[in-house]
Amino acid sequence: MGRAPASFPERILPDVPREKIPASVGIIMDGNGRWARRFGWERIKGHTAGIDAVRDTARAAAELGISELTLYAFSVENWKRPRREVTYLMELLRRFAIDERPEIERNGIRFRTIGRVAELPEKTFSALRETERLSAGNDGMVLRLALNYGGRAELADAARRIADDVVAGTLRPGDVDEAALAARLYDASMREVDMVVRTASEMRISNFLLWQISYAELVVTDVLWPDFRRANLYTAIREYAARERRFGELVKG
Ligand code: IPE
Ligand code: IPE
Ligand code: MG
Repeated sequence: MGRAPASFPERILPDVPREKIPASVGIIMDGNGRWARRFGWERIKGHTAGIDAVRDTARAAAELGISELTLYAFSVENWKRPRREVTYLMELLRRFAIDERPEIERNGIRFRTIGRVAELPEKTFSALRETERLSAGNDGMVLRLALNYGGRAELADAARRIADDVVAGTLRPGDVDEAALAARLYDASMREVDMVVRTASEMRISNFLLWQISYAELVVTDVLWPDFRRANLYTAIREYAARERRFGELVKG
């Protein structure tokens, strides 16, 4: 089988030391509409074209040994878009969840979702759930889609779970700390994000992973998401590797 080996990142990126490759990457996939409009096409063509970018980027990330790739695919705010576009996106997501199963299996990928996914249309939700279930036993990269996701919604949902546990008597108010909150996020096993990439030039977070990006390095590129390929990921990683991460400490040496 053609499983992408994660063992030789130095062959792919010889100029980046292995320890400088981010373990957890988040991507705000933006610019699909602008990409389509450039050709005079309707916006939804850009979403379809964006699937190829997802495929190539996920494969490249797995090959590099990145352990978690989290892609922002649909925000809680995106419901405000025209119904036709939302419906199209939901169908695209359903098809993606089904069509990618062989590739996910081949590469040992663990597919997951975060967000208020139960509120998605039933067909989309069940296709996603099934792909999650099928890939749960794999041991490769986590490919996580943020869907009907909002960073504030995630924190509010975690706060509600804390309140429920306090009322149930399984958690004392005095024990509510960062770890208690982190344990109640959508994916409690999610590690902190090292690098957030945003395509299509926008210098904002747009409600993506507020908790998990506290010390993430931000890399913004002009490339529109449908044009994003592995070479663009490598460029972002080179930029990340050149940064000095201090985490509030003083510069050493
Ligand atoms: C990102 O591309 C995809 C989603 C938000 C679903 P956009 O659809 O936001 O494209 P632009 O930003 O309008 O070009
Ligand atoms: C962020 O892109 C959401 C996703 C990529 C899913 P948007 O296009 O929705 O963000 P804004 O409106 O430019 O902030
Ligand atoms: Mg956008």
